[in-house]
Amino acid sequence: MKVLVVGSGGREDALAWRLSIDPEVETVATCPGNIGTERWGRNIETDPETAAATFRPDLVVIGPETPLADGLADRLRAAGFRVFGPGAFGARIEASKVWSKQLMVRHGIPTARAEICENLEGAANALANWKTFPVVVKADGLAAGKGVTVARDAQEARKALSEIFLEKRFGAAGRKVVIEEFLIGREASVLALTDGERLYILPAAEDHKAVFNGDAGPNTGGMGAVAPTPVVDAALLKKVEERVLRPLLEALKAEAAAEKITDDAAAYRGVIYAGLMVSPSGDPFVVEFNCRFGDPETQAVLPLVNGSLAYAMKTAAEGRMDAATLGVRPGAAACVILASGGYPGSFEKGKAISGWTPEAALPDGQQVFVSGVEKRNGDIVTSGGRVIAAVGIDRDLDSALAKANALASVISFEGAHHRTDIGRRAS
Ligand code: AMP
Ligand code: GLY
Repeated sequence: MKVLVVGSGGREDALAWRLSIDPEVETVATCPGNIGTERWGRNIETDPETAAATFRPDLVVIGPETPLADGLADRLRAAGFRVFGPGAFGARIEASKVWSKQLMVRHGIPTARAEICENLEGAANALANWKTFPVVVKADGLAAGKGVTVARDAQEARKALSEIFLEKRFGAAGRKVVIEEFLIGREASVLALTDGERLYILPAAEDHKAVFNGDAGPNTGGMGAVAPTPVVDAALLKKVEERVLRPLLEALKAEAAAEKITDDAAAYRGVIYAGLMVSPSGDPFVVEFNCRFGDPETQAVLPLVNGSLAYAMKTAAEGRMDAATLGVRPGAAACVILASGGYPGSFEKGKAISGWTPEAALPDGQQVFVSGVEKRNGDIVTSGGRVIAAVGIDRDLDSALAKANALASVISFEGAHHRTDIGRRAS
């Protein structure tokens, strides 16, 4: 099978790597890819539709949410390609937090109590009657992970609302907001492959969004992840399947029917990412749905998946998912992100990286995935906020963490920082 991966981050590097070692895959190409994905096959530096037309893949796997929300999967399907990734309709679970919340409420999927507001006045009124703090304010649309504010009091919430409605910080993504109850518990990310009917649930992961050790500092795209997370045991995973994932598939079908969206455009073929808060009593509540693999969760989850991921994805794309060859290897994986100085605020790029090159051979159980690295005048330099994921895979979480941390500690560049407490939250 020839596979085209769309995207250019660490998640896509992990996908391209995993697909390149897949028993069913002959060739992988990534569009546009990065200096990491070139290790697994060629990069095609053009738009995804042109890349598909020239490369003629048997399967296209779309990584990021923006092209999914823009209907790339629909367009590629219309052009005759098998695509793993939902169409614009399914991608709404991530692209509109308002729609997603309404869907959860209508279909009884457990989530935080919320109010939806379409202007500053309505939001101010909702807030005036709000009784419990902190309160969470979320811009409706895609905001590169920056649209959520956990406000300690009404004043902070009002500031977030004025940034959204008056300063228009998120543009059209901030035309509406969700104001919701702050949930207490432990976060976990559950990713499932689906063809809209069948589900294959991957090992649950735990992201670490805050920039500094001890979950201090502002939120980032994710500073590290572990899988499987001790937060989610088999009993909880069953609850997630029964209360969240299956109801979501049913809800999507019902909503599509109500909107008279045709089968092809409605069918959800791709990954469902359920961002969960697990309550102290062990019940899952949905914090967010995403329509794609998580970053950096993917870098920790995929090394644990045995069998033919490509075959499961291809059959999912055809609406007849067969995940029978898939399995989970025993043990655990951990991923530590090295980030640029200043990230998630402003940062400089172009810092020379030492301790790793794309040609470097790594010992068994260690892997590097590339988020923001490029070659400039022959040097390997940083080109993004998140730069490199150092991954460790071993028989248990402690050993996997030791390998990831050891790898992270030998890679350096000016201003580099990483958390040293990934996977160390008290359980
Ligand atoms: P989101 O983009 O919706 O995942 O929100 C980003 C982060 O904000 C989440 O990963 C949580 O850490 C936090 N968050 C969002 N909504 C809530 C909530 N209702 N209760 C507690 N924390 C939340
Ligand atoms: N790791 C969070 C996300 O991918 O949205």
